[in-house]
Amino acid sequence: MQDKLEKIKKEALDKLADIKKLNLLEALEKEYLGRKGQLTAILRNLSSMSDEDKKKIGKLSNEIKVELSEKFKEAKDIIIGSARGGNYVDVSIPGQKIKQGHIHPITQVMGDLEKLFSSMGFMVLDGPELESDHYNFTALNIPADHPARDMQDTFYIDTKNKNNEHDMVMRTHTSPVQVRAMQKYGAPIKCVVPGRVFRNEATDATHDTTFYQIEGLMVGEGISLANLKAVLQDVLNGIFQEEVGMRIRPGYFPFVEPGLEIDIACTICKGAKCPACKHTGWLEMLGSGMIHPEVLKYGGVDPEKYSGFAFGIGVTRLAMMKYKIDDIRLFNSGDLRFMEQF
Ligand code: PHE
Repeated sequence: MQDKLEKIKKEALDKLADIKKLNLLEALEKEYLGRKGQLTAILRNLSSMSDEDKKKIGKLSNEIKVELSEKFKEAKDIIIGSARGGNYVDVSIPGQKIKQGHIHPITQVMGDLEKLFSSMGFMVLDGPELESDHYNFTALNIPADHPARDMQDTFYIDTKNKNNEHDMVMRTHTSPVQVRAMQKYGAPIKCVVPGRVFRNEATDATHDTTFYQIEGLMVGEGISLANLKAVLQDVLNGIFQEEVGMRIRPGYFPFVEPGLEIDIACTICKGAKCPACKHTGWLEMLGSGMIHPEVLKYGGVDPEKYSGFAFGIGVTRLAMMKYKIDDIRLFNSGDLRFMEQF
């Protein structure tokens, strides 16, 4: 009898393993556990058995009944669950599209610039946004109390040094990294420094408190303005994907001598004069010049042996020109209706 019970159990479990449909499962359950089922028949017969068998067989058949009931229930849950989409994947249902973001227009232009400069052998460096007064001004030949400090409206940080001076600023330009780079790598050196800069300004369509620049630096023996012009012309052509007209004017920055302002022919009217270029045909694009001997000295570079040029491109302005954006504040607005156009 015991063997017979074990056989019934094994048979039921074997059959169960192959069943994937609810009606077949229910039929199987009936066949074993139903009123006329095999196991029920044995339990019914218990009364005709000896006391000892009653105990043994009764216990065993009950155990098997409980076990089989559980297995049937599990199998049923799986089948029902599948039918309701539980573990079941309907590969024919069209997928849900995942919404993908994209790179911010300034980051795109910055990436293009880095690629262009890298292809010319320039290193790409970083510098701190929270900068010391020393690197932001003094080492750039702008001593304390020099009127040139007022050229850039500065966010000073509230902390003071041991001489009771405010000596930390949010950097007003990427130029401090000129000196940091020369100190770290010496000469000759070719590098660019993309980064965010800060000015304590009233904002309007062309001014924001936070914008992007890329600083460039090339120091070596016999470097001249001719090298500067050639490098910049190549980069501007690369960014705009066409020959860009370039105009060089004298300009004043304490850390270069001579200092230059470089304009590009208006990309909107191509020099024909329009509102975007304030009817001049030209757009101010960057400051540059030959690095001042004092700045080379702060960088630990011998001005008798080496010379070099530096420039600072307004990347935010470049992005405005490239994508014809008329309000600088849109870049930091986080407005998706604006962002999604790029
Ligand atoms: N740092 C200057 C600015 O922010 C730009 C500049 C860089 C000028 C390098 C000359 C040389 O306006």
